[in-house]
Amino acid sequence: MLNCRQSFYRHQKKWDIYKDPQGRTALKLIEPIFNEHACYTAACHAHAEKDKILGFVEADASLALLDEAKFKQGLALTAYVAIFFIAISAFLGLILWELVSKPVSYLAHGMEKVIGGDLNYSVPIKSHDEIGVLSNAFNVMITEIKAAKDQQERWTQTLEAEITKKTEEIQKTHLQLVQTEKLASLGRMAAGVAHEINNPLTGVVTFAYLIKKRVPPDSLEAEDLNVIIEQAERCAKIIKNLLTFARATPSEKGDLNISEVLRRTIHMVENQAKFLNIKFDVRLEDTPFIVLGDVSQFQQIFLNMMINAADAMNERGTITISTRKTTVDKKPFVEIEFTDTGSGIPEEIMGKLFEPFFTTKPVGKGTGLGLSVSHGIVKHFGGQIDVKSTIGKGTSFFVKLPLSEHHA
Ligand SMILES: Nc1ncnc2c1ncn2[C@@H]1O[C@H](COP(=O)(O)OP(=O)(O)O)[C@@H](O)[C@H]1O
Ligand SMILES: [Mg+2]
Repeated sequence: MLNCRQSFYRHQKKWDIYKDPQGRTALKLIEPIFNEHACYTAACHAHAEKDKILGFVEADASLALLDEAKFKQGLALTAYVAIFFIAISAFLGLILWELVSKPVSYLAHGMEKVIGGDLNYSVPIKSHDEIGVLSNAFNVMITEIKAAKDQQERWTQTLEAEITKKTEEIQKTHLQLVQTEKLASLGRMAAGVAHEINNPLTGVVTFAYLIKKRVPPDSLEAEDLNVIIEQAERCAKIIKNLLTFARATPSEKGDLNISEVLRRTIHMVENQAKFLNIKFDVRLEDTPFIVLGDVSQFQQIFLNMMINAADAMNERGTITISTRKTTVDKKPFVEIEFTDTGSGIPEEIMGKLFEPFFTTKPVGKGTGLGLSVSHGIVKHFGGQIDVKSTIGKGTSFFVKLPLSEHHA
C-alpha cells in the first residue's frame, strides 16, 4: 500500500517535533493514505473513486533519549568550560603568587627585619626579572649598610682606644714635663749657685796665695796652702765648666772641629766625682774632623754618652773614645765611638732607647731625654747614631756626622 502512495507525499512535510504532556520531546509522523486506482478498483476495498484521501497513518516516536543526550552534552560542556576557567585562573594565580606576591612578601619581611635592626637578613633571589633585580638591590643595600655600620663601630672602638691611649700618654707626658721643668729649674738654680760660689772661691785662692807669700816656702803651712789652692782651683774649674754647659746659649751653626769639642768635654767631666774611677782611653785621629754644627749641642751629646757609660759601669771601668773617617751613602762622615765596659743593653729595650723619656734609671737619676735629644740634634745636622751592645761586656755608641764640604 505504501508503494502506491509514494508519488503523493514526496513534497509534503509529514513530520513534526513537539513536547508531550510530560515535557519530553517527541517526533510525530503523519502519513496520508491516498485513494489510488488500485484502491478504488480492488475487490477488497470499497472506496469511491472521488475520495482523494482514504485516511492517515500517524506515528509518535519519543525523543527522550535524545533529550537526555543533549542535556548531558550541555552539562559536560558547561563543566568543561568551568574547569577550564578554574584551571586557567589557578594557573595565573599561581604564577602571580610565585613571581610577584612571594618575592614582594620576602622584601616586605626583609624590610621589617632591617627596621628591627637585623642587618644579617638577605632576601632570597629566585628570578632575574624586575623583582629579582629589586631583591638583589635590597641585599646589596643591606650589605653596604652593614659594612658602613661595622666600620662605624670599629672607628668608635678604635677612637675610644686611641683616646684612652692618648689620655694616658698626655698624663704621662705631663708628669714628665713637670719633672723636666723641675730639672731645668734645678739646672738654672745650679748655674746661679755656681756663679755665686765662683766669687768666694776666687777670694779663697787669692787670699791663700797672699798667705803663702808670707810663710816660708818649705814650711808645712805652705804645703797646706798649696792643697787649699789646688782644691779651690779644681772647684773653680768644675764650676766654670758647669757654667759653660748650663748657659742657655742660642744654637750657633758653624764649622767646628769635632776632636776639639770632644777634648773639651772630656776635660770637663774628668775631674768630676762620677768619673774619678773611670779610665778614659782617648784615641782621636790627628787630622781635624770639621763638621757643621753647634758646639754646645755637640757637647751635650758627648756628655750624655759619657754619663750613660759611667752609669752603665757603676762609675767604674773604661770609656774608650775614638774618631775615624767613614762613609755613609758614599758621602764622607766622621764616626765618633763611645765604648764602655758596662752592663750592656738588653735586646728588648734596644728599640726604645731613642724614645723621649725612656729610662731604666731610678727617679731623679735619669730623665730619658739624653738619647732622644742627641738623636734630634744629630739628625738635624744630617747624621745618625748607631748602637752595638753585648750583655755583660759593654756598649758602643757610634755618632756619625757628615764632614763639612770644604774639609771633606
Ligand atoms: N752605655 C749604655 N749602656 C747601657 N745602657 C744604656 C747606655 N746608654 C743608654 N742606655 C740605656 O738607655 C736609656 C736611655 O738613655 P738616655 O736617653 O740618655 O736617658 P737617661 O740617661 O736619662 O736614662 C738609659 O736609661 C739606659 O737604660
Ligand atoms: Mg742619659
